[in-house]
Amino acid sequence: MTPIALDPARVAGWRTTWDAMMLGFVPGLPALERLIATAVEAVRGAPPTRVLDLGGGPGLLAERMSRRWPDATVTLLDLDPVLLELARAGLPSAIGVVRADLTSPAWPAATGTGYDLITAVMTVHYLAPEAIRALYAAARDALAPGGLLVVADLMPDDGLPGLMRALDPAPGEAAAELAWAQWWCGLMGVPEIVGLLAARADLFRDRPPAGFTADLGWHAAAIRAAGFAEAGALWREGRHAALAARRL
Ligand SMILES: C[S@@+](CC[C@H](N)C(=O)[O-])C[C@H]1O[C@@H](n2cnc3c(N)ncnc32)[C@H](O)[C@@H]1O
Repeated sequence: MTPIALDPARVAGWRTTWDAMMLGFVPGLPALERLIATAVEAVRGAPPTRVLDLGGGPGLLAERMSRRWPDATVTLLDLDPVLLELARAGLPSAIGVVRADLTSPAWPAATGTGYDLITAVMTVHYLAPEAIRALYAAARDALAPGGLLVVADLMPDDGLPGLMRALDPAPGEAAAELAWAQWWCGLMGVPEIVGLLAARADLFRDRPPAGFTADLGWHAAAIRAAGFAEAGALWREGRHAALAARRL
């Protein structure tokens, strides 16, 4: 695809509003990020040297991890042409940005292996159950021995009974859905982005987000079945939770 020149100030604005929008969905994301950092540093006894963010979107988490661990090689993987362009335009050049499809067995060939930390934040609900299982197996192989996989997403709490289990969306979630629609609408009037939006529409036309939201127990079982020895809850906020799993 022909490189496009995006105004850096506008890119910064779109990335900042993306970040605010994600916080609208999950206000506890900063706490989760701190826990991820604490967990990987504790497990390794040192900062990670290779980090991979799966479905990293415009790269806010990748950027914060790179800032926290300036000696680490940080790589972001995504499929969305618009978000990849915002990541490429907005991130420091030291952060790798890789286009690959997590539903394809070929993605690890694009990112390489030997990672100390692999994150997937709000990504796996785009995938069908079999693709999630395959992703966990591929992530295991992409980790270095002792490396940590962290998956955060909608995972209703299977420990709560009946009505509470589904937990209504958090109060801010309807506003976050609106902000999501507005964010994408806001890009429609930008001539440099129109072509990317069309490519995005083509890409996702036949593959809408799977919207598969299993409980934490399902993900823990799938992670163990993928060959991880341990998988435990790292964090929870309402319907959202994160699991951490270590490759032995
Ligand atoms: C809700 S966004 C979350 C983005 C980012 N992790 C964050 O927290 O800001 C989900 C991301 O998963 C990416 N994604 C969905 N399906 C994918 C696939 N099959 N391969 C790669 N990325 C995918 C989307 O393009 C999008 O960037």
